[in-house]
Amino acid sequence: VNNSVVLSKEETKISSMFSSIAKSYDLINDLMTFGLARRWRRQLVDWSDVSSTDAVLDCATGTGDLALVFAQRMNSKNLLNSKNKDNTAPITGIDFCKEMLELAPSKAKSRGYNINFVQGDVMNMPFKDKQFDVISIAYGLRNVSDPIIAIREMARVCKPGGRILILETGASEPTVNGFFIRLFFKYAVPFIGGIFSGNRSAYEYLHKSSSVFPARRKLVEQFQETELFSSIEYRSLLGGASYLYKLTI
Ligand SMILES: C[S@@+](CC[C@H](N)C(=O)[O-])C[C@H]1O[C@@H](n2cnc3c(N)ncnc32)[C@H](O)[C@@H]1O
Repeated sequence: VNNSVVLSKEETKISSMFSSIAKSYDLINDLMTFGLARRWRRQLVDWSDVSSTDAVLDCATGTGDLALVFAQRMNSKNLLNSKNKDNTAPITGIDFCKEMLELAPSKAKSRGYNINFVQGDVMNMPFKDKQFDVISIAYGLRNVSDPIIAIREMARVCKPGGRILILETGASEPTVNGFFIRLFFKYAVPFIGGIFSGNRSAYEYLHKSSSVFPARRKLVEQFQETELFSSIEYRSLLGGASYLYKLTI
């Protein structure tokens, strides 16, 4: 983890919001999704069809949980010094928030996983073109100041035939589930988040940003406009509590 990342004003604001909730992030994440976020990260990894020789990049990795699920699936346990065919660590996680990222390496190490954590901006990544087979981002895209720039950047570092997997919330479907989910995120999440992190406004922001972020067809249309992908698919999770997207280059 280094300190030399240059951030815009808006990005500095986002990053310092995550700094303030970093220590309680994992706990609150489990509480407010009843552990479902864990199941959905596993579903993302299932859908990616990752193989043990793939090079994987987890964007906005935060405290590294999705990178850890990839490591588990790729059976890289006890391979602390393993390298893939390009002679790099098989899994890389990137995030611009030092305080979130700092928590990740010890989690990986204690499980014996070889993951390379890099501090950096998802909209401008320090990686060569066409370097990764599988690229992921969980609950990160809506926080990035320009999501489509981030998607273009992910496509740049993705190999031909590679895929980008996204797990994200967004404007929920007008279903009964969707109605209760909105109530829960509007009232319960800022309350729980406020108690455990001491920063209620961060969790109010997280709710507001997810109720306005496009989902399903609307987001798919934005991805299509880039003309970068041969196929774009999505799945709703629990009637719109979250969505999974798979973009194939
Ligand atoms: C809600 S957390 C998600 C963490 C993790 N992926 C997970 O599944 O729990 C969002 C993360 O996005 C990161 N982030 C937001 N914008 C970013 C950017 N432009 N570049 C890198 N990281 C960014 C934040 O620092 C934060 O750690």
